[in-house]
Amino acid sequence: MKRYEQVTHHLREQIKSSQLRPGEPLPSLRSLSERLAVSKNTVIHAYQQLEAEGLIEPRSRQGFFVSHSQPQPELSATPRPVTLGALALNVIRAASQSDLQPLGSADPDTRFPARTQLYKTVARNARARAHFQPAISHYQPPPGSDLLRARLAHHISETAFSCQPQEIIICNGTQEGISLSLRAVAQPGDIIAVESPSFYGTLQCIEALGLKVLEVPTIPGEGINLSLLEKLLKAWPVKALLLNPNINNPLGFQVQRSHQEKLMALTAPYQLPIIEDDVFGELNYQSHRAPPLKALDSDGRVILCSSFSKTLDTDIRLGWVIPGKFYEEVNYFKYVTTLASSGLIQEACAEFMAERRFARHLRRIKRTYKQRWELFAGDMNRCMPSELIYSHPEGGYLCWLELPKGCDGDRIYQQALAEKIAITPGSLFSTEGIYRHCIRLNFSVYNGSSEIRNALIRVSELVRSEIQRAG
Ligand SMILES: Cc1ncc(COP(=O)(O)O)c(C=O)c1O
Repeated sequence: MKRYEQVTHHLREQIKSSQLRPGEPLPSLRSLSERLAVSKNTVIHAYQQLEAEGLIEPRSRQGFFVSHSQPQPELSATPRPVTLGALALNVIRAASQSDLQPLGSADPDTRFPARTQLYKTVARNARARAHFQPAISHYQPPPGSDLLRARLAHHISETAFSCQPQEIIICNGTQEGISLSLRAVAQPGDIIAVESPSFYGTLQCIEALGLKVLEVPTIPGEGINLSLLEKLLKAWPVKALLLNPNINNPLGFQVQRSHQEKLMALTAPYQLPIIEDDVFGELNYQSHRAPPLKALDSDGRVILCSSFSKTLDTDIRLGWVIPGKFYEEVNYFKYVTTLASSGLIQEACAEFMAERRFARHLRRIKRTYKQRWELFAGDMNRCMPSELIYSHPEGGYLCWLELPKGCDGDRIYQQALAEKIAITPGSLFSTEGIYRHCIRLNFSVYNGSSEIRNALIRVSELVRSEIQRAG
């Protein structure tokens, strides 16, 4: 690689991984040439190249800035049925095999004391039930346990926005919350706009409900492409927008407040319902969480869905919906779909949330995942080939890897699986096959043990040989 190509590559990677965000200034020619020990001409050449690629733009007398409208993956921008097939289910099944190195499915580390405490509470309550035999069994009908809703409302009001218990409906995880919300706002055949890349579980939920999906690219580090969304809303009768704005899966970034405000303003004339998947929203690495979109919702059209899956344990299967003006519809669909969520688990979670235990637990896991990211990123830098671009998450435990076009993430997935390593193929994150050259890795249990490190090194070798094969 020539010197200017190395500088171009270095900056391109920083832009694509959001270390340099849209609108941010690039270093001056002099400071960058000094820092990288290259001539000013080399830096000029690199800046010209990045400008030609649309990644940066000059502003008169101010230097170069990262472009606001980054080149987007090529999506057809037409609504289409979802057909992701059985691969997603295989990925989830593979993740549940305990003999695999878990770099795949988006599962949290379970070795935190809070989870043990929670299950002790479940066990105590279960024992109490074993000894106390009511004459008749009964459901905990929707909207769910009053105590749990009160504790959740208190927690949400302290950390995100003012919320009353009677605004909350308990459900079996975010996935059920999203499914109920989609049914509340749309009928089979309707169009749902989603950001791209999008979590495959959501895409398959849209598929199962007979809805069509309209994929709108996300600008990493910024959020859904608003100018494209505006055009698509004019062109198509979109029924709702489904977003995963805070600590997005798979990109891991957090949406800026100004972007959220513009999104709300843009969708207001359509009174467009927005389903907000906030399942990772509390896992940002800063001390306070970024407010969800729901915090800006003055007319009740944002439906927030979340759960304990990423903060405590996926297996609790307990989540909540804050449906705004769609409360009655969501409550009805919860009732006709699953009748109720387990009263035993709701009771235990409510008890667990007392005395700020959940808040303490959140502080602890955020610290841990941030440390794991630093460890993981250090190892990625050492072992991954330089052609690879990877995201720099602002929270959670997922990292998105983009290989050069032509590479096949499905092949890497199959090869890794054969060697007992779980990863997630990028092809699952769109209905249009545009992320086939990507993979997603989970670093929630990346604690520096030799097993997990060796698994990452092996994945890096598979990535390297895939790049060679495709090149
Ligand atoms: C973005 C996103 N939304 C929803 C879900 C499903 O969450 P739950 O276990 O709460 O149903 C997941 C699970 O991985 C996810 O990553």
